Amino acid sequence: MEQLDACLEENVPVISIFWGRSPEFIAHARSGGAKVIFSAWDAQSAAEAVDHGAHAICAQGWEAGGHVRGKVSTMALVPAVVDAVGDTPVIAAGGIADGRGLAAALALGASAAWIGTRFLSAKETCIHPDYVARLIDACETDTGYYDNLFDVGWPNAPHRALQNSTTKAWEAAGRPKPGQRPGEGDTVASSPSEGKVVRYQTFSPDTETTGDIEAVAMWCGQGVSMVRKVQSAGDIVLEIADEARKIISF
Ligand SMILES: Cc1cc2nc3c(=O)[nH]c(=O)nc-3n(C[C@H](O)[C@H](O)[C@H](O)COP(=O)(O)O)c2cc1C
Repeated sequence: MEQLDACLEENVPVISIFWGRSPEFIAHARSGGAKVIFSAWDAQSAAEAVDHGAHAICAQGWEAGGHVRGKVSTMALVPAVVDAVGDTPVIAAGGIADGRGLAAALALGASAAWIGTRFLSAKETCIHPDYVARLIDACETDTGYYDNLFDVGWPNAPHRALQNSTTKAWEAAGRPKPGQRPGEGDTVASSPSEGKVVRYQTFSPDTETTGDIEAVAMWCGQGVSMVRKVQSAGDIVLEIADEARKIISF
């Protein structure tokens, strides 16, 4: 609630809420004048959020990078959510990384797309160049969906990241629980903002991080196969919009 209050004091116009479904958060954000977008993982969570006052729904499919709440793919999730929320705008997320994905999302009834992974290679990001290079080299089978691998600070928070030496050693050891994971507690990198970074720590390597960058969590979704070059964020938006327009007007 403190963080929400800080946003409202600064007149942040749009607040995005994910994971928890607290009606109080939605009501509080609304009462402060913000528009509220709720990231839903199935039709029920979307409908409940709308009942609680969400202005728009982000429907996040299983393909998505970072924390992933549900297990339904974007292709099946978006129409289910669209059907469940009436006139409330739905923003499709997960695996959308070019104009083909945007056109598909619109065809499924979404009003917009919410894109994360593709922007990791934008010039404006501050992630480590080795992380960007690995994304550019990666294909759609190179990510993993992990129930409880990186220490995200709260339990049962599955996440999707690029497979690396840390995830592979953990898989090879039989996916042991925290406390029994290989190399747990090893310092693998360090950064001025974070100090030492230990294996399994939730941390995105930034340009100032030094050490074994490959061993640190590199969040990304299955749409990583469409991340192929470094571009400005503006050029990414224009390229995706142009591609989608051509497909839709075909
Ligand atoms: C590096 C990274 C960090 C993310 N951090 C957050 C976050 O802090 N809060 C959030 O609601 N979603 C976060 N997400 C998820 C996005 O909001 C979105 O659902 C996802 O990126 C869409 O799928 P895509 O990655 O396939 O484009 C993150 C995604 C990535 C790739």
